[in-house]
Amino acid sequence: MTPAEARAPAKVNLALHVTGRRADGYHTLDSLVVFADAADVVLVRPAETPSLRVTGPRAEGVPTDASNLVMRAAAAMGVAAAIELEKHLPAAGGIGGGSSDAAATLRALAAMTGRAPPADLAALGADVPVCMAPGPARMRGIGEVVEPLATLPALDAVLVNPGVAVPTPQVFARLARRENPPLPDPLPALADALALTDWLAAQRNDLEPPARALAPGIDAALGALAGAPGCRLARMSGSGATCFGLFPDAAAAARAAQALARPGWWVRAVRLGAQ
Ligand code: C5P
Repeated sequence: MTPAEARAPAKVNLALHVTGRRADGYHTLDSLVVFADAADVVLVRPAETPSLRVTGPRAEGVPTDASNLVMRAAAAMGVAAAIELEKHLPAAGGIGGGSSDAAATLRALAAMTGRAPPADLAALGADVPVCMAPGPARMRGIGEVVEPLATLPALDAVLVNPGVAVPTPQVFARLARRENPPLPDPLPALADALALTDWLAAQRNDLEPPARALAPGIDAALGALAGAPGCRLARMSGSGATCFGLFPDAAAAARAAQALARPGWWVRAVRLGAQ
């Protein structure tokens, strides 16, 4: 067995509609998901005993014990490995840090061992299934129903994490309405980035109002993005607190990212959906 590496790109929910609640308390979603060209990196090596080392600019505070989703993913595959996780993305930020890292771990372990990943990926985390093959996708159920969308136009964006943590269960618990309309079915044909952005403006992230109530820092991030020159749409991703702004081109996104930088904020100009 030789070591294997996998990238764990940031996941962005361009729209996230909460459509209902299952008997077990999990919420059903209808979400349009894309991935950014900003990523964590997972490296796995064969080992006698499981271990995890977290490095990189966003390593601080990331657990290295069995509670880390990366370790739970390795345990679910029944593989003992020495795992190195290079953190570049904010953890617990609504851009799939944990789920994307777990999915990358499963992909790297599958490459290293030849074993198949476990069947029930959503049991690890609701976003793990969509993160297994990072690309534009529509996600339904609690995350286990994934429909790849090959033709979604790429977008130039700025991600802003205002440095506040919002616990996902609390955000769901504060939803005023649990049964909201799904996305249109089928999705319309969207010819280019402008058409996609205009269409997205009529969709929602239903988790944004409860997350804003829990963490006012999200208002500041959304307000700053919306006020940046050229910003066409500002919205929160997942259960927060990371927000994204959509811009007409990479130069406008880069200028906005520079202008938005401030202490305590994580700000990145990214390309969404073009891996
Ligand atoms: O599965 P994940 O770790 O992403 O979810 C964390 C928590 O968020 C769950 O325990 C649940 O309370 C809530 N959740 C939910 N419906 C989803 C995803 C998460 O209610 N589809």
